[in-house]
Parts: sequence; structure tokens; C-alpha cells
Amino acid sequence: MEVWQKESVLLFLPLSILLSGLVNVNALSYDYTASIECLAQPHKAQYGGGMIKNPELNEGLIGWSTFGNAVIEHRNESDGNKFVVAAWVQVSEEKALVRAVFRTVTGLKRAAETVAESKCWSMLKGGLTVDASGPAELFFETDNTSVEVWVDSVSLQPFTQEEWMSHHVESIEKTKRRVRIRVEAEGNPVVNSKISIHQKASGKPIGCAVNKGILDNVGYQNWFTSRFTHTTFENEMKWYTTEPVRGKEDYSLPDSIMTLMKQHNIAVRGHNIFWDDPHYQPNWVPSLQPNDLSAAANKRINSIMTKYKGQVIGWDVVNENLHFNFFESKLGPDASATFYKMAAGIDQSIPLFMNEFNTLEQKGDAASTPAKYLEKLKNIQTFMGAEAKRMAIGLECHFDVPSLPYIRSSLDTLAATNLPIWLTEIDVQSGSNQ
Ligand SMILES: *[C@@H]1O[C@H](CO)[C@@H](O)[C@H](O)[C@H]1NC(C)=O
Ligand SMILES: *[C@@H]1O[C@H](CO)[C@@H](O)[C@H](O)[C@H]1NC(C)=O
Repeated sequence: MEVWQKESVLLFLPLSILLSGLVNVNALSYDYTASIECLAQPHKAQYGGGMIKNPELNEGLIGWSTFGNAVIEHRNESDGNKFVVAAWVQVSEEKALVRAVFRTVTGLKRAAETVAESKCWSMLKGGLTVDASGPAELFFETDNTSVEVWVDSVSLQPFTQEEWMSHHVESIEKTKRRVRIRVEAEGNPVVNSKISIHQKASGKPIGCAVNKGILDNVGYQNWFTSRFTHTTFENEMKWYTTEPVRGKEDYSLPDSIMTLMKQHNIAVRGHNIFWDDPHYQPNWVPSLQPNDLSAAANKRINSIMTKYKGQVIGWDVVNENLHFNFFESKLGPDASATFYKMAAGIDQSIPLFMNEFNTLEQKGDAASTPAKYLEKLKNIQTFMGAEAKRMAIGLECHFDVPSLPYIRSSLDTLAATNLPIWLTEIDVQSGSNQ
């Protein structure tokens, strides 16, 4: 059974959260499932609903209107308890964004969002970290007051820091490779052999941006090349660098950095072909008329992709096209999608990234939530047709305090696309417990 209400805030649940009561010796496994399909029937509530009484609303609104006025007790020793929230939502007409929002004593926090459709159920999955005492409420809301929103299979599951760590260890154990070393002399095992193992290179792609400053700085070169297996050039491949004057292309800077990286077997992600931010166009570009812009852009994409074909492992095709829309404003709503389709034709072998910020960061930025990211990605994929699988997800991560349950559940949702996901930038502001 489900409930609905014709209001922007349609349903709320006062929560009873007592952090000190959550210590659990038998750690509950994390539920990694997420769905990006709109289904005829919602799945069962995760964790049997977790803290939610009556999670599938089979008992009417019991729990939703009367449950608690409780106090959250602050635990100084942890960095806050982690709550994972999930629900299935549907709207009466067309489509609308539906959010799960928590009100705690520290304010309102958007925990999850999805594009809900009519006649089928969409999952929203998210999370938040609670580290302050006081009452809390869970709201489901939409900005469009003319649609009815239906909610079902709601779950809210708290995890302690210890439980969270145990999930981490569990995942590592699953993928860990074990090696057995046997030292022999003439076919016989040698006991008490002393073995030393040195890691020469990281098995995981770990990278860092680089800029032209590296070219004449040997100390920087040694430091950089001994650490990283992957890189991206900060500005040296951008259009404003390679074609500062129309028709005068100059690839000498990116070529020099590319040569250095090749010498050290460091893979290069191409960044970027276009940047949708109007402030970062070559200065001759913004005044072009649409036809002329289209011709210049076609030349640009062909030129740089052909030039670095076989030398880069992927491209940010239209950088930050959720926050900005320079090309869409000049060439129409399919501008990005057209460039991705062209890119797929020019280089048939590498992933084509949508690179964005504030998708994993829980900063209340409505432009680039996982739901918004997936909506744009889907538009581009529909336009690309058979090439849709060439897309890849690039996430710039600029965290203040990273919200682990939000990051985890957002990754679960994005991973449901089955596309590769790369964290293309990452920084964390310094703070306690980090
Ligand atoms: C937690 O920290 C606050 C302020 O730092 C302190 O007043 C309080 O006594 C501490 N509580 C516990 C249970 O240690
Ligand atoms: C709100 O929903 C109605 C019904 O689906 C739709 O016609 C209208 O365009 C929506 N309004 C906004 C601002 O999205």
C-alpha cells in the first residue's frame, strides 16, 4: 500500500534516533542494490525498513504521524552515525524530482533525490551523517505542487563507524588476491627464508593533475613520475590554450607533457574537448554566430581527438554540462549530445566522460545531484543510440566533510548504469576525524 498527499511536502516522519543505542556487535551487511529503472512494482524495503516502523505502509500511516519526539545523543568518539535512506516513489502525472530531506538540529539536509515518473516506481537512495543531538524528521518533497507523489518501501538504516568499517573490510576481502610464495633449492623447500617485497607501482589507477610547470622542473618530474600512474593536464589541452587565435592551432605544450608522461608510462586522460562554462572559451569564440560556432567546434573536436588518438585513455567531451550551457545556449538543447556522438565516431575505442562537480558532495547543489546527472546522461545516451555504452562517469570531488553514506549510496545509484566511474579530482578540507 502507498500514501499520497497533494502538497509539496507530502509526508514526514518524526524519528527516534538514539546514537548510543546503535552499537551492534553483529554488524549488518550493507545493501548495495540500487535501481535506475522505473518498475511496475517497488522492491521490498531495504533492511526490512530499518528504523522505519511500517516501512511498506501496509498499516496505513501508523508510525508516520505518531512516532516519537526523541532525542539524539551525541557520541563524541565517533564522527557521527551514518544513515542510509531508500524509498520508491511515483508521481501522478509526467515526471517530477522527488527528494528525501532530513531536518535535524543542524538544519535541513537533502539526503536523496530521484526523477519520479507516473505509472511506475522509481527508487531513491541516499544518506546522511548525524552527529548532533536533537529531534529529527524525514520528509519527502517535490517542488511541483500540482503533482501527487506516492511513496512506498521506505527504509532508514543506521550504521556505526565500526559497522561501516566492517563493510569496507568485507569488500576488500572479496577482491583481495592471495599469493603463495615458496622458496626452493633443487626442488626442496628452504625453510626460514627471508623474503622482502617492495611495491614498485600501484595496482590501482592513482593520478594527479599536471601542468606545464613540470617541463622545466626536474624535482617536480621525479616526485610526480615516481608516484602516479595516471594524469590529466590542467589547462594545456583546453581549447583556449591550443587555439588562442582562430585557425592557429598550437599543440606544442600538450605534446611536450605527453612525451614526458609516455617516457614514464603514465596514462593521460584527455581534458577537455569543450567546456560548457561561458567564461572559459577562447576569446574569439563567444561572438561567433551559431553556424560559424558549429563549424569552429567541429574543427576543434576533429583536430584534438585525431591528434591524440591512441595517446589518451578517455576524453572529457563537454566538461561540466550540468552547471553550464554555453554550447546549448548557442546551438540548441542537443549540443552536448551531438558532440558526444561525434566523439564516438572520431575515436572508437575510448570512454567518453561527462565530468561534473557536486554529485558526490552533499552540498545542496541542485544542478548536479546523482538524479540530475543520470537525467542528462540518459538524454545523451538516447541520442547516441548504439554508442550509448561508450559513456563514462567522471566525478570531481571537492569535499568539505565527506558524507560517507551519501557518497556510497550515490555511487550505488550511478553504478546501476554499468558504466565506468572515475573520481577525476578529489580534495577534502581539513577538519577533525579526517
Ligand atoms: C562531549 O564533548 C562535549 C564538548 O566537547 C563535552 O561537554 C561532553 O561532556 C562530552 N560528552 C561525553 C559523553 O564525553
Ligand atoms: C508540474 O506538473 C504538471 C503535471 O505533470 C506539469 O504539467 C507541469 O509542467 C509541472 N510544472 C513544472 C514547473 O515542472
